[in-house]
Amino acid sequence: MENYNVKTRAFPTIGIILLGGISDKKNRIPLHTTAGIAYTGINNDVYTETKLYVSKDEKCYIDGKEIDLNSDRSPSKVIDKFKHDILMRVNLDDENNLSIDSRNFNILSGSSDSGAAALGECIESIFEYNINIFTFENDLQRISESVGRSLYGGLTVNYANGRESLTEPLLEPEAFNNFTIIGAHFNIDRKPSNEIHENIIKHENYRERIKSAERKAKKLEELSRNANIKGIFELAESDTIEYHKMLHDVGVDIINDRMENLIEKVKEMKNNFWNSYIVTGGPNVFVITEKKDVDKAMEGLNDLCDDIRLLKVAGKPQVISKN
Ligand code: MEV
Repeated sequence: MENYNVKTRAFPTIGIILLGGISDKKNRIPLHTTAGIAYTGINNDVYTETKLYVSKDEKCYIDGKEIDLNSDRSPSKVIDKFKHDILMRVNLDDENNLSIDSRNFNILSGSSDSGAAALGECIESIFEYNINIFTFENDLQRISESVGRSLYGGLTVNYANGRESLTEPLLEPEAFNNFTIIGAHFNIDRKPSNEIHENIIKHENYRERIKSAERKAKKLEELSRNANIKGIFELAESDTIEYHKMLHDVGVDIINDRMENLIEKVKEMKNNFWNSYIVTGGPNVFVITEKKDVDKAMEGLNDLCDDIRLLKVAGKPQVISKN
């Protein structure tokens, strides 16, 4: 049992109703209801792979770099909570420790959700999925506030009010089969999401934002019931506009001139075919088109960003191996 390990894969996420404002830096419970999708590459090549393994000392590596176990959002808080029970289940005593090695593959943004969900899947699989999923999601939110999006995959809504938070699945990935997400990436450093969370709450219309997110969640439930995928992405675009306008007002600009330029092109292309766009907290514009229009869209966008990837909606985490 000395080398016991479990390896999982989980998928990064994109906000549909974007998250701005969390309870505090430790628990990271969202202050309002949000929604999102998990995504991967059209060849399933975008994901986080995480190995949880028994070790002499506790270590945590992300993309090969050892991270401080006491840092904000460190996975060790979650591992420590379950350590005794995990070691017991694999017939080892508390002299042993647990470590993680987590690697991100081709992720544009949203890797903290997939990282937290991949670790969650390691733990859940050891417990044979016999774990209190309600409190477990809150445990994982200490690593990433929007982890629920990756935990369930597909389209999800997270109902939250700063004290309680629970994610519910709305649509499976297959519902999005006729659509492609074009990830247009810009080579600039992303702003830490804490900068977003700390500042957006200072906006004079923040209370309105909470109500508007709730209204949008109700609308999203209805659109999902009717499998109205275009409607879902149109709602996402209107939310992106509202969110980034508010962020701009409080001095946090995520959308720079080059991103704005690409967005102008997206708007121009709307005259020729249906599309929609989303900007979350990272330096990307996600452009959604019907599959039949992808080539036309790529032609228009290729030269306006630094890297471009074809993406699709992904499912929930998977166990890759258990030894
Ligand atoms: C917050 O957890 C992540 C953001 O990118 C917004 C979102 O995707 O909802 C800042």
